[in-house]
Amino acid sequence: MEPIVSVSHVKKSYQKRKDKTVVKAVDDISFQVHKGEIVGLLGPNGAGKTTTIKMICGLLKPNQGTIKIQGLDNSKHRLKSLKHISAVLEGNRNLYWRLTVRENLEYFAGNRGKSKKQVKDQIDYLLELFHLKMKEHELVNRLSRGMQQKLAIAVAMLADTEVILLDEPTLGLDVETSYEVRDILKKIVRDEARTIIISSHDMAVIQAVCERVIIVNNGKIVTDNRVEDLIALFDARQYTITLGQPLIHRQITQLKACFSNFEYESEQLKPKLVVELLSAEQIYQVFDILKKNETPVEDINRNTINFEQVFIKIIKGETGHANHSSLSSKSSKASN
Ligand SMILES: Nc1ncnc2c1ncn2[C@@H]1O[C@H](COP(=O)(O)OP(=O)(O)OP(=O)(O)O)[C@@H](O)[C@H]1O
Ligand SMILES: [Mg+2]
Repeated sequence: MEPIVSVSHVKKSYQKRKDKTVVKAVDDISFQVHKGEIVGLLGPNGAGKTTTIKMICGLLKPNQGTIKIQGLDNSKHRLKSLKHISAVLEGNRNLYWRLTVRENLEYFAGNRGKSKKQVKDQIDYLLELFHLKMKEHELVNRLSRGMQQKLAIAVAMLADTEVILLDEPTLGLDVETSYEVRDILKKIVRDEARTIIISSHDMAVIQAVCERVIIVNNGKIVTDNRVEDLIALFDARQYTITLGQPLIHRQITQLKACFSNFEYESEQLKPKLVVELLSAEQIYQVFDILKKNETPVEDINRNTINFEQVFIKIIKGETGHANHSSLSSKSSKASN
């Protein structure tokens, strides 16, 4: 099946006005998105997320590489390819401030060639979904930031395009509204066959909504994988072992030699060690070393890891046993 969005060796640099230095905002990025996929573009500030989104929706031209939407190069067949895309960009809410909520929805549907009558039911549905029904006759400039953001996403939904791009959909929203937007996106993902690319630096949003995540840093893709596989990759083999007595020096040296991520805390009432195993069998190696001095084991806990920790490990290049090649091989699986 042909991907609906195909980004191939794309580069984009900016020249800073002040000192003329060149910033490689996007540095040779390639990925493909298939119909119905919900993909997160996750990365810290300045990673290149907005630049990537803007290039996909044709607002910026890459210096190199190609972007195809439904097989059409978006710089050669701009209008035709962009017909398949709607986007909500960070900061730019694509709304008319002097129109009401309902009028905005009707206006933008009209831009896509649909009459008020045609979209009435859909608008009613969206107003309910986004909890904006009681504000339908309110002017947009009187809405809170969260409501404006919800309306902007509703406008993008109404466009009925196959692909929706959302740049930082929860940025600047309070916790409650952020949760609300997250829940609405989850519902859209569940109920509608849309292809959605969401950029965010908020891991919770990506984890809650996306099946697949592309992590970007310094303009490059660090990993492209299924969210659950990424967590499993790091989750599986980190253990905290509580001991009945402190380790002796020789044991610490041996554990350090075997496990690069070995941590030991002896100051507490009960000494604790944390090991990350390369394979499940390695737990026996830990026990062998403990047994040498008959160190009592009081408790063993398999640690759970959250997506935030996975993200930090990947960004820091601390992929541990999950080395980069295993991450990339999963990525090709994810994008096939
Ligand atoms: N118009 C511009 N002129 C110069 N440099 C720019 C411009 N736009 C972006 N950059 C630089 O390009 C890099 C990537 O920026 P981009 O906005 O794509 O990152 P981002 O991942 O969206 O970050 P954030 O999480 O802060 O939104 C950054 O170093 C940024 O400073
Ligand atoms: Mg951005």
